[in-house]
Amino acid sequence: SNPSILILPGDGIGPEVMTEVVKIIDWYGAKRGLTFDVTHDLVGGAAYDAHGAPISDETMEKAQSVDAVLLGAVGGPKYDNLDFSVKPERGLLRLRKEMDLFANLRPAQCFDALADFSSLKKDIVAGLDIMIVRELTSGIYFGEPRGISIENNERVGINTQRYTESEIERAARAAFDLAMKRNKKLCSMEKANVMESGILWRDVVTEVHADYPEVELSHMYADNGAMQLVRAPKQFDVIVTDNLFGDILSDCAAMLTGSLGMLPSASLGAPMENGRPKAMYEPVHGSAPDIAGQGKANPIACVLSFAMALRYSFNEGDEATRLEKAIEQVLADGVRTADLAGEEGVVPVSTSEMGDKIVEALDAS
Ligand code: NAI
Ligand code: MG
Repeated sequence: SNPSILILPGDGIGPEVMTEVVKIIDWYGAKRGLTFDVTHDLVGGAAYDAHGAPISDETMEKAQSVDAVLLGAVGGPKYDNLDFSVKPERGLLRLRKEMDLFANLRPAQCFDALADFSSLKKDIVAGLDIMIVRELTSGIYFGEPRGISIENNERVGINTQRYTESEIERAARAAFDLAMKRNKKLCSMEKANVMESGILWRDVVTEVHADYPEVELSHMYADNGAMQLVRAPKQFDVIVTDNLFGDILSDCAAMLTGSLGMLPSASLGAPMENGRPKAMYEPVHGSAPDIAGQGKANPIACVLSFAMALRYSFNEGDEATRLEKAIEQVLADGVRTADLAGEEGVVPVSTSEMGDKIVEALDAS
C-alpha cells in the first residue's frame, strides 16, 4: 500500500502554506509515481472551534497510525484568552508527547541566493548546511522536582535537569543515524565541566559511538558551541544536544540563514512496525496572524518540511534533494515572497505563485 500522510494545516497561515505542499505532493504522484495516501484533519484553534479541544482523540489515533504527520501552524489572537488546557499549542504538545517524538531535527541551511539575508558575513554562511538534533521530551523542561516554593521566607524557583541513560542513548542514536545519512560527522554539546547530566551525556554518546565507528565524533561545551556556531558554523555537520541547549542553539543557528519563512523541522520517535520512525514535520514559524489570509506567507519552510519527510520517513533522499534543488533554483531566479523581498525593486510573489514556481522548477528537473 502507499505510504500515508496526515495533513494538519492548523490556523492562520498554516492552511495557506499547506495548500502549496499539497501541490508538491500531487506533483510527486503524477510525475514521479510516488503516491501517498493523504488525509486531512484539524488541529489547534480550528479543532477547538469544531470539537472544543485542540486535537480530538480520533485525530490523535490517525496521527499514531500514519507514516508521517505534516503540520502547518497553530494559534492566533482569537484563542489567546482560552483556558490553558484547550489552547491551540496544547494540540501540538499532545502530538509530541503521545507520539513520544524525542528527537527534534532542526536544519540550518543557507541557500546561496539568500546569503545576504543572514545577519552574518556572506562568506561565513554561504553554502551552510548543518543539522541540530535536540532531545525533545526530557531534561530541565520536564524534570522533577519543579515549582516555586518558599524557603527562608523567600520564593525559590526550581527546575531539575534530569536525563536517564536510555533517554540520552535514543537521542544519540537518532543523531548518529542522521550523521550516517549525511557527512558522518557529529558534534555533541553539553556542559560536562559543570553538570552531572552533562558528564553522563558525554559518556553515553561516547558509548553509542562504538556502534557507529565510521562517524567522526567530537564533544564541545555548549557555551563554546554557541560561540563557534556564530564564528564558523561550517565546521559542523550534525550537532546533538539536550532539550534546553538545543532550544537555544537551534534558534541561534536558524538566524544564521535569514527568514523564519525558510526553516523546516522534523520530530522523530521510535521506529514503528514497518521500520519507519514515528514522525511529525512542521515549519518552525507560527501562524503569523499579522499576514494570515493575505496570500503573503512564504510556503518554503513547509515545503522543506515535506522534503525532510521524503528523506527521513520515506527513504526518498534523492527526491528530497530534487525538491530542495527546485527551491534553490526558484530563489536563484529571483522569485521572492514578501518576507524575502528585501532588495529594492523586487516585486514579491504570492504564496500560491511561489508554490507554482516550485512545481515549474520540479517539472524542469
Ligand atoms: P510567527 O512565527 O507566527 O510570526 C513571527 C513573524 O514572522 C511575523 O511577523 C510573521 O508574519 C512572520 N512569519 C512567520 N512565518 C512566516 C512565513 N511563512 N512567511 C512570511 N512571514 C512569516 O510567531 P508569533 O507572531 O510569535 O506567533 C503567532 C502565533 O503563532 C501565536 O499564536 C503563537 O502562539 C503561534 N505559534 C505557533 C507555533 C507552531 O504552531 N509551531 C510556533 C510559534 C508560534
Ligand atoms: Mg525556542
